[in-house]
Order: sequence, then C-alpha cells, then structure tokens
Amino acid sequence: MRGVILAGGKGTRLGDLTKVTNKHLLPVGPYPMVYHHIKKLVGAGMTDILLVSGTEHMGDFIELLGSGREHSCRLTYRVQDEAGGIAQALSLAEQFCSGSRMCVLLGDNIFRDPLISFVEKANSRPDWAWIGLKRVPDPGRYGVAELNGDNIVGIEEKPKEPKSDTAVIGIYIYPPDVFSVVRNLKPSARGEYEITDVNNHYIREGRMGHMILDGYWTDAGTLDSLDYANELVRKEPPRF
Ligand code: G1P
Repeated sequence: MRGVILAGGKGTRLGDLTKVTNKHLLPVGPYPMVYHHIKKLVGAGMTDILLVSGTEHMGDFIELLGSGREHSCRLTYRVQDEAGGIAQALSLAEQFCSGSRMCVLLGDNIFRDPLISFVEKANSRPDWAWIGLKRVPDPGRYGVAELNGDNIVGIEEKPKEPKSDTAVIGIYIYPPDVFSVVRNLKPSARGEYEITDVNNHYIREGRMGHMILDGYWTDAGTLDSLDYANELVRKEPPRF
C-alpha cells in the first residue's frame, strides 16, 4: 500500500501564521505538522509516500524532508498547480500508485491512534474504500456519515442539518479504481472536486467500510483547532 499526504491549500483561516509558510509546516507538539503523517504511514508499514502541495511552498517541504531518508521512507513530491478540491489533489497520485492501493491522509488532521489497525481491517476487503469516522460535537463543519447499524448509507458534505454526529475524517484507504471514480466527478456547488462524492460512489456500489477512531482526532486548520491539536498532543502524544 502506498501513502499519500495531501498538504495543499492556502491556509487562509490561519491568518498571518500562513502568510509566508504552509499550514502543514506549522508546529503541532514537537514537530512540524507534516511529520505526524509521515510517522503514521511509516509506522503502518508504508515507506513509499507521495506529498502533494501547491507551488508556493514545495521547496520548503523538500528542504525539510528531503528524500525521506531521515524518516526511513522514500518521498515523492507532486505539485498541485491550483487548489481544486481533495479529490482533484488525489488524482495527482495516479502514476505514483501505479495499480497499488493507497492510504490518503489530509495533512491538517491530527489523531492519536496508530494507523496499523485501520490498515489491517481494510486488508480484509481490498477492493473496498475505507474511511475513518469520529463522533464530534460540531458535525456540520465536516463530511457527515449517516449510519444504519454498521452500514454507512450516505455522506453529506458540511450539512446545515447533520443527520448524525459522526464526522468523516481525513483518513481514507482506496483501491486503485479510485482514479476512474475521480475522473467521472463533477465539481460541487463550491467549485471543487469533493472527496465526499468519491466516497458516496463506493457507498452506492456497496464497497465502503469504516473504522471508528478510539483516540482523539481534530483538524488543525483554524487558529482554535491548531491550538487544540497542540493541547491534545501535549497531553497524550500520538501513537505511531
Ligand atoms: C474535508 C472533507 C470533509 C472532511 C474534512 C476532515 O473538509 O471535505 O469531508 O470531514 O476534510 O477534516 P475541508 O475542511 O477540507 O473542507
């Protein structure tokens, strides 16, 4: 399985903190944010990792991470010329994955649990897509999963009236056919190629599994949530 870290975006919600740098290079605990994702992937046995980011700060990522040797992995970099949504960023991983399955991490999601149990569960059905879920107090900020027993029946992206308190978090495992799913997407009302549309495709096909995280999870894309991520990591270091 290949690892893919999506680390693009302008980080405008972080104000001057991202005026001259990329959000994923800001500190969370003792490391730059992006270290968390590399350590999680390497800890789960993925040593071929692709990092996708915009043109502005790719040089900084390369300067920080180099070949990946210090993290015991091989890093590949791909530039996303313009922000066009998570699914569009994922489409840049097609050549890199070359027929392998992949674990995709959103670069601004911080979580405690190691990835290995998620990967092992996903290995039970390798032709399915797998997503991470977490119950949250403010589901309307995220993709929200509607569950019927243990089955996900649909996902709504940032709904005004969420049908559950279960957020879809930025940990996904996809089979290689995800790229043909992405190719058939249409842009959403906000003009982006949505990962939620990809996931709903697998739900319709009856090929969607999930894993509920036990430990903490937060995004870190706003001033408050970046603060919160640091507080969580300080109290309980993540397990890699
Ligand atoms: C994205 C996804 C959303 C997911 C969230 C997790 O939202 O579109 O489904 O719940 O990441 O952080 P974004 O906040 O990037 O718009």
